[in-house]
Amino acid sequence: MKTLIIGGTGTVGSLVVKELLQRGAGVRVMTRSAEKAASLPEGVEVVVGDMAAPETLPAAMAGAEALFLVTPVAPDEINQGLAAVEAARLAGIRYLVYLSIHKLETGAHIPHFATKFPIEYAVKNSGIEWTLIRPNNFFQNDYWFKDVITQYGVYPQPLSELGVSRVDVRDIAEAVAFSLTTPGHAGQTYALVGADAMTGERTAEIYSEVLGRPIQYTGGDLEAWAAAAARTMPPWLVLDLKMMYDHFLRHGLRATQAEVSTLAGLLGRAPRSFEDFAREMFAA
Ligand SMILES: NC(=O)c1ccc[n+]([C@@H]2O[C@H](COP(=O)([O-])OP(=O)(O)OC[C@H]3O[C@@H](n4cnc5c(N)ncnc54)[C@H](OP(=O)(O)O)[C@@H]3O)[C@@H](O)[C@H]2O)c1
Repeated sequence: MKTLIIGGTGTVGSLVVKELLQRGAGVRVMTRSAEKAASLPEGVEVVVGDMAAPETLPAAMAGAEALFLVTPVAPDEINQGLAAVEAARLAGIRYLVYLSIHKLETGAHIPHFATKFPIEYAVKNSGIEWTLIRPNNFFQNDYWFKDVITQYGVYPQPLSELGVSRVDVRDIAEAVAFSLTTPGHAGQTYALVGADAMTGERTAEIYSEVLGRPIQYTGGDLEAWAAAAARTMPPWLVLDLKMMYDHFLRHGLRATQAEVSTLAGLLGRAPRSFEDFAREMFAA
């Protein structure tokens, strides 16, 4: 079965590419950039296309039987996602796995959560068999904070004291690959979560243990986070992420035990732990 991956050069999609190649599946990646196309692994078919230019989608999808769809956090994310689902329907794609977000309903006021609702709706009503993958906050986001942790001894991501069931991107990629290559996943919605709900303080404690020196959690100050983020991010993105972190601070984003058990059943093992990720990040 040939699977088209939209987002195959990104954090999740690049690992899905590897997982599918290991399983001997046929992989095609759509990218906007001919330069990125050159760096994709051997054995991957590459097409240049852009969800913001829907006229490029029919050629990208022609002959593919399955689609793994990642939509970017962008002001036109809804249009991009709806264009991709419509093109998949018209191209006769038979199975679609969409990367959404954990507990979407609780964060419906947050822009990049809200954008996923109409796309999920379109997926479910496309007539294509589907699986929804709904991940929590990625462990690997901490690579953005690696220098701040080492240089200033602080952990700045606002994770709250209520707990956020963060997940390793490698678990997400495996779950996507299982969904695409083994039977029984059509119509399923999988929460991609860690077994432990991580707090900001616990995260800083783990980094202190790993580095052998104190790391202080500073994420409780949302205004300080936003002021720092504004140096590198556009205002719409600062607002979007600030609303998400405010939600984390007030409500957390915790998985249920049932969600963790279902995921462990899918992976055939417990989800990867944050402690192991933290050790690997600083060993790398
Ligand atoms: N970070 C988290 O903690 C987290 C948690 C839950 C859910 N999510 C969701 O995960 C998604 C992002 O996944 P990611 O982090 O793996 O992505 P990423 O690393 O940011 O990469 C984005 C990917 O999307 C592709 N892309 C961007 N614009 C495109 C367009 N107009 N047409 C076609 N392809 C386009 C890029 O490909 P090219 O540049 O090669 O074209 C790239 O492969 C978002 O929907 C986000 O809400 C993130």
